[in-house]
Amino acid sequence: MRKPQFIARQGRKPSGLLGRIVARVMARETANENDFALELLQLQPADAVLEIGCGHGETLAKAANAASSGSLCGIDFSPTMLRHAARRHRQLVAEKRIEFRLESSDRLPFPDASFDKVFAVHTIYFWNRPLDHLTEARRVLKPGGRFVLGFRPAEDAGFRATFPSEIYHIRPEAEVAQLARDAGFEAIQLRDLALRNKRLSFVIATRLRGAE
Ligand SMILES: C[S@@+](CC[C@H](N)C(=O)[O-])C[C@H]1O[C@@H](n2cnc3c(N)ncnc32)[C@H](O)[C@@H]1O
Repeated sequence: MRKPQFIARQGRKPSGLLGRIVARVMARETANENDFALELLQLQPADAVLEIGCGHGETLAKAANAASSGSLCGIDFSPTMLRHAARRHRQLVAEKRIEFRLESSDRLPFPDASFDKVFAVHTIYFWNRPLDHLTEARRVLKPGGRFVLGFRPAEDAGFRATFPSEIYHIRPEAEVAQLARDAGFEAIQLRDLALRNKRLSFVIATRLRGAE
């Protein structure tokens, strides 16, 4: 059944009391694909990691185990989500292991080549001009760094039937791979993950050493 627009808007930018509930539900419902994204990232102990659209912050908190001496930063443009994430992971925040920042992904406030690993899961749907966001993700990635983008593609008919296209831009996986190429990423691979009731696609890409 098609989700009403007010629920879809909460997926895009959770807010208020309903947004706090959405944060909890989302953390549970997206855990499997986020765990897979972490595997694909091949985290190393000293990695500097950026999550774009970090929402509830659960994935970044898990990443802290693998990037045990590194740094972790999550950006999200929803104040409700960030408050939830900062409260839930206050220990890691207090220890300065994780930083949550209120930012939009089309203008990342970081110098070029700041991160070893950059990832985003279930966030590309909300980018009207995806190239702006992907170009920023590449800019802040170090040469040799790894980028993972997880999403439900247009090939997942159930997803297309459920989420209103006015809010969710649902794209075929080949189109997303091409967008990553257009943004300047290299060595692009696609991986699929079939879960009980959904299909996920992951674009894995790098910024090659020495590449501009
Ligand atoms: C559907 S949730 C996914 C959260 C988490 N990544 C997950 O997989 O469970 C999308 C998140 O991306 C955030 N978001 C959407 N567009 C954004 C943008 N342009 N800049 C920063 N955050 C954005 C939303 O506020 C929301 O928290």
